[in-house]
Parts: sequence; C-alpha cells; structure tokens
Amino acid sequence: MKTTDNPIFAPALIQWYEQHKRALPWRETTDPYKIWLSEIILQQTRVNQGLPYYQKFIAAYPTVHDLAAAPQEEVLRLWQGLGYYSRARNMHFTAQQLVNEYGGVFPDSYKELLKLRGVGSYTAAAIASFAFREQVAVLDGNVFRVLARVFGIPDDIALPASRAVFQQLANSFIPVDAPDVFNQAIMEFGAIQCTPLMPDCLFCPLQQTCFAYNHGMVQELPVKSKAKAARPRFFHYIVFEHQGNYYLRKRLSGDIWQGLYDFYLYESPDKGLSADALVKELQQAGVPVAEDQVLPPQKEYKHVLSHQKLTAKFYRVRLAEPLAGEILQETRLAPFRAAEIDALPKPVLISSYLKDSRILVDL
Ligand code: ADE
Repeated sequence: MKTTDNPIFAPALIQWYEQHKRALPWRETTDPYKIWLSEIILQQTRVNQGLPYYQKFIAAYPTVHDLAAAPQEEVLRLWQGLGYYSRARNMHFTAQQLVNEYGGVFPDSYKELLKLRGVGSYTAAAIASFAFREQVAVLDGNVFRVLARVFGIPDDIALPASRAVFQQLANSFIPVDAPDVFNQAIMEFGAIQCTPLMPDCLFCPLQQTCFAYNHGMVQELPVKSKAKAARPRFFHYIVFEHQGNYYLRKRLSGDIWQGLYDFYLYESPDKGLSADALVKELQQAGVPVAEDQVLPPQKEYKHVLSHQKLTAKFYRVRLAEPLAGEILQETRLAPFRAAEIDALPKPVLISSYLKDSRILVDL
C-alpha cells in the first residue's frame, strides 16, 4: 500500500547523513551570503565542479558588499565556464540591491527572500533553512527523486503543477528542531545513495519502506517528461587579426551570452556557408579582405545550451590594415591583445577556440 505515513523517513535520512556526508565549506557556515552564493553555483553544476568556483568567489568577494562593488565583467569572468550567465548577472544585481535597499543584511525569512531577484523557491528555502533554521523544505532534482521513489509519487516532475504535491510532502517531514540538517540530508541522499541510474538499493536504510524498491519501479520513478528538442544554430565566426590584435565585441541583450565577448558573427539557417560566400559577405559589408587572407576553419565546435545546440566554425582573417571608421562602429568590434582577451568574460566555446588556435596559451 502506498503511504506517506513513514515515521522512520526523517530519522533514517538524518542518521544516514551523519555517517555519509561530505565535508563541504558551505555546510560549516550560517552566513546567508555564503549559503546563497553556494546554492546559486550549485544550481549550475555538481559539487566537485562547483567547489573551486565557490572558493574563487569567496576569496574575491568575502562579503556581499565586495560582490556588489565589483565590476560586472569581473563577476562574469569568474563565472566563466558555469554557463547560464543571467544567473551571474542576477546575482550581481541582487548583491547591489541587498547593499542599497537592505543595508547589506539578508532578509531572514523564506517569504522575504523570495522577493530578491534570481531567488526562487529552491534558493529561498535553502537560505531560510540553512542560515535561519526556518522549517521549509528544499526541492531540487535530488529531492524530487528521493520522494518520488520512497513514496511512489507518479506526478511528472517536469510539470510546475507537480511541485505543490512534493512540497507538501517534504514539508510534512521536516523536523522542527533540525530543518537545516533534514534538507542537507535529503539532498545528499539523492546525490550519493539514491542516484538517478544506479541507486545503491542493497545498502539503503529506506529499502524496506521504499515504494519503488518494493514494486520494482526504481528505474521508472521519478516520472519526468522529455524536454523539447534543442534548437540547432549555426555560427560562423570571423576572427579579424591585425598585428597581434584581435577584434572582439561585447554581446548585447536579446540573445544568449549577454555581456560576454565574442567575435564578428554570421549566423546561417543551416550548416552550408562556404568560405567564398563569407568573403563576399564581408566585402559587401565594406571589409577589405581577399580570399587568400582567410584561414578556413580547422574544426567544428559543438556547444549545447539548455534550449539550443550550437555548431560553430571560426574563420581567421589576417588584415592588411586595422579596421577603422564606420566598420568599427557598425560591428562594435574593438581590438584586443591576447593578455587583454584573457581577462574578458567569454563563452566557453570562444575560450576553447582561443586555446586550440594558440591565440591564448595556458588558459
Ligand atoms: N546541491 C545543492 N545544494 C547543495 C548543498 N547545500 N550541499 C550539497 N549539494 C548541494
């Protein structure tokens, strides 16, 4: 029988956690700033990859005041490689909002935390419970999985409407005296024990009471409908070079990678755009290039974003003269030396190219 009445659930999870937890720096603090920073980073990546980013950010910006005072480009540069750069921009904005409107002090309740930009129900619950011990359950992918399996919840976790079901269930278990430990425990349990593909059911303290285990449904739960296929996009980058200067520009809003730097870009509806056609396009745009100045692409770069699948090629163009006048204005390109490029925030795709082509060494 499916039941949500399970008195051993919370105590067993907490006991398991005390034995298996990883020592992680954000678990040693009740500073809401550090907890917030760690949670924003961990929404982007796994613990092992997130840890060095967390350490870099805390070293560069030990308090919310330091983060608020930093230039946006520096914040984006430190974030480089984590992807989803609007998170970093929101985080920076929120730091400034906290300093300007809250005197640099985090609000101390779930409800008030939710009002901050970039702070959704997950992050608000994490900060409220870890920093202020509020009795509110966190829901992330790990928590959905543990609950769906142990309690046999069939609701599709990709649907926003399912959230309330899981939230109510998780809240019903959260102990008054240890909401912080319970939340860490259930996430850790999902990350280490009740993993997506190969959960360790044989040595699981919840085995006897687990609906999925007892019904042979561990692989079927949680139910998650597939996301729409990512949209393919084809990028053709022109890397203008003149005597050790490379031309880049800062991306505007309205598309991916706002605020990051890349090269002059043609986008085509499909793969087929020849180097010839590109040279013609450039000449029409008034850029004085001849075909023999163009080094054709050496390879194709693939990059997958949440809703887009990018294929990029890079054409290196050695210019006889620096770009000047209207062309600079219209393209918004500016010349940079290698050391300057290193310090700019860039999409990982661009960094990979810069490294492969040895424009930047030792990235
Ligand atoms: N993933 C998201 N938040 C986490 C946390 N606080 N500890 C470990 N993994 C996490």
